[in-house]
This record gives sequence, structure tokens and C-alpha cells, in this order.
Amino acid sequence: MAIRTIREEGDPVLRKQSRIVDAVDDKIRVIIDDMVETMYEADGVGLAAPQIGILKRIIVVDIYDETGVKVLVNPEILETSGEQTGVEGCLSVPGESGEVSRPNYVKIKGLGRNGEEVVYEGKGLLARAFCHEVDHLNGILFIDKVIDEGGK
Ligand code: NI
Repeated sequence: MAIRTIREEGDPVLRKQSRIVDAVDDKIRVIIDDMVETMYEADGVGLAAPQIGILKRIIVVDIYDETGVKVLVNPEILETSGEQTGVEGCLSVPGESGEVSRPNYVKIKGLGRNGEEVVYEGKGLLARAFCHEVDHLNGILFIDKVIDEGGK
């Protein structure tokens, strides 16, 4: 495993559309493992592949609760409900934060580290993290959605 360089705002890779992963093979597992290690090293609650310069639809999320890390290849949000507004930040936008509204509940599916189908449900911070990371795969940063600048 290796720590990868986290790309920062202004890097065009963060604004591109990521591509569907055809098969979860060893090459993809290396990327996943590096993403998890890079997220932990940066004390982040999530990371998307474009943040390490790879335009593939892969996200990892860990909100440091008892449920552990969640890996999703080709994630698809199946259901959302409710709304929450809270301060958000991003490893690719260091030193900035702002209020963003997100669904309070998200159900998401994808493929796990071994290519198995996985489905997760998240509320609160977990729901926020899933939405934030899926946005990255579509070239969207939280700063595009800030309704009130906070934490500066
Ligand atoms: Ni982010």
C-alpha cells in the first residue's frame, strides 16, 4: 500500500467525470487500498479516486464508528430522504469549510473490494459523506454547493 498525493482545487482532474470500473481486479484493489491508506493518513472521512488523480468510479468512506470502512466501486445512490445542513470540508480544498445541505438518509449500492455487491444505509454524517464522495466522481466539489460560508 502507498500514500498517494491528494489533488487540490484548481487541478483539472477534480472537475472531470470519472469512468465506470469494468471489473474489480487486483489493479483496482491496489487503488482501493491506497485510497484507504491515504484517507487515514489525512484523517479524512472519505476519499474519491479522482482526488488521487484516478478518474474511476471508486469511493471509500469511514466515519470512525464501529461499522468500519466502506468501499464502493461504481456507487449508485438508490434512495435519499430528509435534509440536513451542516459544515463540510474536503481534503482537496484544505483550510476551507462551509454549510452544505444534504439528504439526512442515503441508501447506496456498489461493488465491494472483492467485486461483491454491497448496499449501505447511512444517516447524518455517513449520508453526507456518501453524497460528498459521489459528487467527486461527477466533478463536483462541496464549494459548489455552499449556502453559507462558515468556519473561516
Ligand atoms: Ni472531498
